[in-house]
Amino acid sequence: MSTLRHSEIAGVGHYVPSRVVTNADLTEIMETTDEWIQERTGIRERRWFEEGKDTTANMGANAARKALEMAGLQPDDVQMIVFATLSPDYFFPGSGVLLQRELGIKAPIPAFDVRNQCSGFVYALSMADQFIKTGMYDTVLVVGSEIHSSGLDKTTRGRSVSVIFGDGAGAVVMRPSTREGHGILSTHLHAQGEFAEELIVKEPGSNREGRVEYVMANELEMYPYMNGQNVFKHAVVRFPQVIKEALDQNGMQPTDIDMLIPHQANLRITQYVQQKMGLSDDKIFSNIQRYGNTTAASVPIALSEAVAEGKIKRGDLVCLAAFGSGFTWASALIKW
Ligand code: ACO
Repeated sequence: MSTLRHSEIAGVGHYVPSRVVTNADLTEIMETTDEWIQERTGIRERRWFEEGKDTTANMGANAARKALEMAGLQPDDVQMIVFATLSPDYFFPGSGVLLQRELGIKAPIPAFDVRNQCSGFVYALSMADQFIKTGMYDTVLVVGSEIHSSGLDKTTRGRSVSVIFGDGAGAVVMRPSTREGHGILSTHLHAQGEFAEELIVKEPGSNREGRVEYVMANELEMYPYMNGQNVFKHAVVRFPQVIKEALDQNGMQPTDIDMLIPHQANLRITQYVQQKMGLSDDKIFSNIQRYGNTTAASVPIALSEAVAEGKIKRGDLVCLAAFGSGFTWASALIKW
C-alpha cells in the first residue's frame, strides 16, 4: 500500500466579468453570424473584462475567495499558490505573486505560474497534488484565470479565433484527504512540442535583437493564430486517450464515470468525446454556450458550476480532461 497521502478538492469557486457579449454583438464589429458561431462552436455568448475593474490576478482572487469560503479557510491558511494562465497581467512577474498580494497573504509562501494554456489548470492541479502527497504543504490554492478579449483580433480578419475565446476565472483549494480512497486518484500529463506553432501567440518573443521594434512593426503577430482543423484532429484523439489512461490506471471503465468535466474547447469537440466514451448527457458538463473558451479557467469554472448545481455528489467519480496549445493534454481522476 502506498504511504503517500491523497489530496482532495476542499473548495471550488469561479468569477466571470459581468459584461456579456453575445454573438449578435460580434456581428456589429466583424462579418460573422450567430448561426456560424453556434454551428461550429456551440457558443452563444461570452464574457469580456471591464478595463479598470477586472484583471487576470483579481479575477483569480475573486474565484479563490469563493473556493476558500467553501473550504472554511482564510487566505492566510494558504501555503502555496499555483496560477495557470496564458494571459498574465505582466510579461513578468507572474500572476501568482499578484494573486498573493490581492488576497492580502503576508506570509512569503511560494507562488508558481504555470503556462500550459488549455491544459494549464489540470497541470497546476497535478503540481499541487504532488506537493500535498509528499507532505510538503497542506493547503494549496490552484487558480486558472484568463483575459483573452484584450488580445484578440476583433476584425473580420481574426474572426475564426476571436469568436471562440472569453474571459473568466476559476479556483480550487486542495487539502490532504481525510477519507480513505477519496480525493485525487491520479493525474496524467502530456506534451508534444512538435506542434507548438499550431496554436500560438508568437509575439512578443525574446529570440531576436530589438524585440520592441520588431513587435511595433509586426503587431499582427501578437494576435493568436490557430490551425483549427489540426487542433480539432488532435483534440478528438487526445481527449479520449488521456481519459482512458486515467481509468486504466485505476482499474475503471468509462461506465464508472459520474461526471466528465472537459476543457470547454468547442462544443463539437466535447460532443465527439462524449460519443467516443459512450457517456450519457448527464455525465458530461458543458457551459461553453455561455462563456466561450476560457482556456486555463474553463475546467475550474465548469467544475464550480457543476458542484453549485448539485451535479457532483460525495463519492462520485469525476474526471477532468484537457487538451490545448503546445500541444499539451492532461487528465485527473477524482473520487469526490
Ligand atoms: N464567422 C463566419 N465565417 C467564418 C468565421 C466566423 N467567425 N470564421 C471563419 N469563417 C469562415 C472562413 O473564412 C471560411 O470561409 P471560406 O470557406 O469562404 O474560406 C469558412 O468559414 C470555413 O473556415 P474554416 O477556418 O475552414 O472553418 P472550420 O470549419 O475549420 O471551423 C473552427 C473553424 C470552428 C475553429 C474549427 O476548425 C474547429 O472546430 N477547430 C477546433 C479548434 C478549436 O475549437 N479550438 C478551440 C480553442 S483551442 C483549444 O481549446 C484546444
